[in-house]
Order: sequence, then C-alpha cells, then structure tokens
Amino acid sequence: MDAYLLEFGNVLLRWLHVVAAIAWIGESIYFVMLDNSLRPPQSAESRKRGVFGEMWAVHGGGFYHNQKYLTNPAELPDDLHWSFWKAYTTWLSGFALFAAMYLVKPGFYLVNPGSSWEWAASMSGWQASALAIAFLLLGWVVYDQLCRRISPNMERDGVLSIAVAVMMVVVAYLTCMIFPGRAAFLITGAIMATCMSANVFFWIIPGQHRMVDALKAGREPNPLDGKRGKQRSVHNTYFTLPVVLLMLSNHYSFTYSGPYAWIILSLFIFSGASIRQYFVLRHSGQNKLVYPIVGVALLVVIGYLAAPRPAAPAARGEQSEAVTTAQVMQIVHARCVQCHAVHPTQPGFPAAPAGMALESEQDLLAHPDLVKQVVANNYMPLGNLTQMTQAERDAIAAWQVP
Ligand code: HEC
Repeated sequence: MDAYLLEFGNVLLRWLHVVAAIAWIGESIYFVMLDNSLRPPQSAESRKRGVFGEMWAVHGGGFYHNQKYLTNPAELPDDLHWSFWKAYTTWLSGFALFAAMYLVKPGFYLVNPGSSWEWAASMSGWQASALAIAFLLLGWVVYDQLCRRISPNMERDGVLSIAVAVMMVVVAYLTCMIFPGRAAFLITGAIMATCMSANVFFWIIPGQHRMVDALKAGREPNPLDGKRGKQRSVHNTYFTLPVVLLMLSNHYSFTYSGPYAWIILSLFIFSGASIRQYFVLRHSGQNKLVYPIVGVALLVVIGYLAAPRPAAPAARGEQSEAVTTAQVMQIVHARCVQCHAVHPTQPGFPAAPAGMALESEQDLLAHPDLVKQVVANNYMPLGNLTQMTQAERDAIAAWQVP
C-alpha cells in the first residue's frame, strides 16, 4: 500500500511540476520575446512619459500595447503583476518528485555499481542521496560565484557564458562518472533548474523589490539591480531548452547509458542553448541561421554517439554458442522478474516498471532489442540490485532471437 501511495503521489506531483514548469517557462519565453521585440515608442506622449520601448500584438481576439519603462515610470500602480510563484512551484514540486522517486529508493537509481570510480561504486544509498543533494546546492554556489566574480557589474557577459559552459561540462562529467546515467542526466538538469529558480529567488525578485521600494520612496533605483535581473534572466532563458530535454531524458535510456554519456549530455546542453539563441536574436530582428545549424549539427553528433553498437566479440567472453530463448528466460527469472512482473515481489514496486512484465517467453519476445540494449549498457537490472553477472549479460548479448 505504501508503494502504491508513493506511486499515486508521484503522478500528482509530476502533473503539478509539468504544469508549473510550462507556465513558468512559457512566461519566461514570452518576456524575453517581448523584451527583444521592443521598438522605440511611436508617440511623443509616450516618449515624454519615459517609455523606453513598446510592442503591439494581437492575441485571443484583442490588441495589446505593451510598453517598457527601464527603471523609473512616473507612477507605479499598486496592483503590479509579479512573476515568481511559477518558478518556486516548479522547483518545489520538482524537488518533491526527486525525493519521492530517487531519495526514497536511493539504491535503485542513485548508486552506480558500474562506476569506474571505486568509491562511487561502493557508496551506500544514503551516501548517494546526500551527494546528489550536495550537487544541487554546490551547483548553485559555484554558478553564483562565477557570476559575481567574473561579471560583478554585468560587464563581462561573454567570459561568464564560457565559464558557465565549462562548469556544465564538468558537472556532466562528474555526474556521469558517479551516478547511473539516468540519474546523472536528471541531476544535471536539476542543477540548471535550481540555478534558474535561485536566480529568481535570490537576485531577480529581491532586486525588483529594491527597485520598487526606491521608486515609492522617490529615490533613483540602483541601475545594477535592473542589469543583474536582466543578466540572470538571460541565463535562465538559455537553460530552458536543455533543462526540459534533461527532464524528459529518463524515457530514453540510449541517451545516457552508453560510454559517451557525459559528452552527449554536454552536447544536448549546447545544442539547446544554441537553438534558443536563434529565437532570442530573431525576436530582435536578426536571422542568424548559424545557431540552429550548430544546434542541429550537435544533435547529429549525439545521434551518432548514442547509436547502439553490437557488443565487441571480446565483451561476449566465452560465449561462442548461440543462446536460446529458454536459456535467456532462466536468467530473466533469476534477475528481472522480482520487479518486472504483474505483481512484483521487490518492495517499492506496486506494478511492473515501465509497464513491462517479463514473466513469459511471450512477454520477453515482445521487446527483445530493448532487453538486449538495457542489459548490455548495464542500465538493467536497476542498480544491479539482483546481482546479475557478466556471464549472464554476455549470454543475453549472444541470444539468438527467433
Ligand atoms: C529493481 C527492480 C528492477 C529490476 C531487477 C529490473 N528492472 Fe528493468 N526496469 C525497472 C524500472 C524501475 C524501470 C523503469 C525505468 C525507467 O522509467 O527508465 C525498468 C525498465 C526496464 C526496461 C524499459 C527501458 C526503457 O528504456 O524503456 C527494460 C527493457 C527493462 N527494464 C529490462 C529489464 C531486464 C531485462 C531486467 C533483468 C536483467 C530488469 N529490467 C531488471 C526496474 C527493474
């Protein structure tokens, strides 16, 4: 029953998380578009009021006239619209989901017995959970320090972008070495998402509060607050596409379970940022096709790197004879059906994971390629909880599917 409640909570949290994220990212994309589409105000009256730029739009059967003041509109209405709950809800629901899935069953998803770093391979479930949380916190601390030190007055944004890119490659490498691929992609995405939410929480919103307070008190707002808010929200916009992809990646084990996982992960981040750059520029009237071309070229490289490769003969070991389905079935019964059954015996699993029972030959023959793939790349058995041996993996690689 507990496992069922956890699963039911999981679906509700996931729903909330996705909806909040859509609302947040949608609004963020909208405001970046709005900002880049601003044109100098047409009427003398607007210019006199201190309008910096404006955009006309038609949507939902009406016309909209947005005007942007930089920092000092003459008067500020009391019912000013603030945007922050969407960001906070996304992070809180995301963290709750991470806790419900990964932290509650740390051994399954967070320990990587196949890690080539011995200390990582032998971590306990709770150590792995603590390390994953440390990654989330440290990711923000390092990113924030890079921003503060490299570009304290928002003057060296180019150097800062390179530093953040290097930081993400390091994160990709470390997480892929330490955690199972699936968790590594998710944690890297969660680090970026944590930086995004923390940007809103620690800089953008407080800066806006200071600006509003200054205006209300008749003081000139500190222009750095506006510039910093803008810098951090620009970072957020380049993070959005990669984060969405990393959050979805756990459905595609071929992306994270091969030997090039950390390179694939880094390339996904650059590809997403590059494609986003195209749209950012496009809204300010530039059509720089080089960005989507780079983005798509990186995707092609990813496609090549992630493609399944037949196991090398050496990796198949002694196995020269073809292996029959009946032999594979024996292995599956020893190592897989604890979880992959209509009624799993493994605690914590209320139903067959991924909707995939593997109890009969018929079940097995419904997905032979997928079974070979996940066994060859060590993704299954999850966390090698059932202690599958290399000889058994080799046997499945040599299985002659009828
Ligand atoms: C400890 C429980 C557990 C064991 C043991 C286990 N699995 Fe899984 N398996 C899972 C979970 C959980 C998922 C869903 C993971 C996900 O959503 O990516 C899954 C997913 C799969 C998938 C679908 C992967 C995909 O990309 O859609 C395949 C195929 C699979 N397992 C095969 C196996 C085989 C073969 C074995 C035995 C060698 C095995 N599993 C042992 C828990 C387990």
